Amino acid sequence: PVVSVLELGGVKIARDDVVRDDPTNNIPDTIFAKLGMQLHRRDRHPIGILKNAIYEYFDTNYSNKFDKFDDLCPLVSLKQNFDDVLVPADHVSRSYNDTYYADSRTVLRCHTSAHQAELLREGHTHFLVTGDVYRRDSIDSTHYPVFHQMEGVRVFSPNDWDGSGVDGTSVAARDLKECLEGLARHLFGSVEMRWIDTYFPFTNPSFELEIFFQENWLEVLGCGVTEQEILRRSGKENNVAWAFGLGLERLAMVLFDIPDIRLFWSSDERFTSQFFSGQLGVKFKPFSKYPPCYKDISFWINESFTENNFCEVVRAVAGDLVEEVKLIDNFTNKKGMTSHCYRIAYRSMERSLTDEEINKLQWDVRDQVVSKLKVEVR
Ligand code: PHE
Repeated sequence: PVVSVLELGGVKIARDDVVRDDPTNNIPDTIFAKLGMQLHRRDRHPIGILKNAIYEYFDTNYSNKFDKFDDLCPLVSLKQNFDDVLVPADHVSRSYNDTYYADSRTVLRCHTSAHQAELLREGHTHFLVTGDVYRRDSIDSTHYPVFHQMEGVRVFSPNDWDGSGVDGTSVAARDLKECLEGLARHLFGSVEMRWIDTYFPFTNPSFELEIFFQENWLEVLGCGVTEQEILRRSGKENNVAWAFGLGLERLAMVLFDIPDIRLFWSSDERFTSQFFSGQLGVKFKPFSKYPPCYKDISFWINESFTENNFCEVVRAVAGDLVEEVKLIDNFTNKKGMTSHCYRIAYRSMERSLTDEEINKLQWDVRDQVVSKLKVEVR
């Protein structure tokens, strides 16, 4: 039987077509179906292979000091996901447009940072947390609404910097960059990389590491020195810590030459049979590249329209057959009405699609866009 209501951590979530008792639930069927897949716990899946290779780096270089968690529930409280890591009350990431809510107080974690504070409180000083994370987003070959992150946290105590002539923050920042550059070398051998200064609510200073891939700089991780307030609240006010959060799909795409993020979810044997436990960086051989088919859709948007909502409608209709959604025209007429034109690329990773099939998808998208988003198709 098809599962229609799932209970996780005491929170009930229902499929789209089941009447929900909570209107604040914005989790669609496409996401519901991904819960519990835990790609990161499969030893022969690129995501699991990569997780294990990162574990190996930490075990070797820090003599097994890092505690590992890879089975923490993806449904977390707003407090865990946002408040505990000092995300401001008005931050966009809290919106229904960016985050999946199971109810008004519970979300599908949008980052593994959601577990930092409680693990610190429990007394862990070196830990790695791997898990599936969820974000509403636009659609292209490197973005998917479910992906995997690994969080790392290391706590320093005063004797780690006392007498060094340098303060704790500088010691942690230097150690952090060394650690992550070492990790990058462990995974890639050599690869072009660069550090960018950035902002996160939970670290200061904060950095991003980018890696050069397929002619582009790809952001693969965020990190920084943990805000003192987080440590203070966890009863560690005399300590200093660093933290990082890395995106496993982005790294795996580079390491295994996987051209499209949807492939990670494929159960096609021509994909799954190419990877082996413990073998990092086996280059993926595309089993064939079927041509994409482009269809445009134009409509007058309304005030509540967002691109994320549009993309979710497209995914609900086409699932993993949609490769990319791109805004190709945007104008406002004399009456103040704004029109958007989107180009949808349909392409299967596994077979060629018929014209008939694609036309049907596109008609369904048109119908759904009108009924769900209340826009006027042109
Ligand atoms: N949570 C951040 C993200 O998802 C990554 C991060 C983790 C940054 C830890 C700094 C420290 O983008």
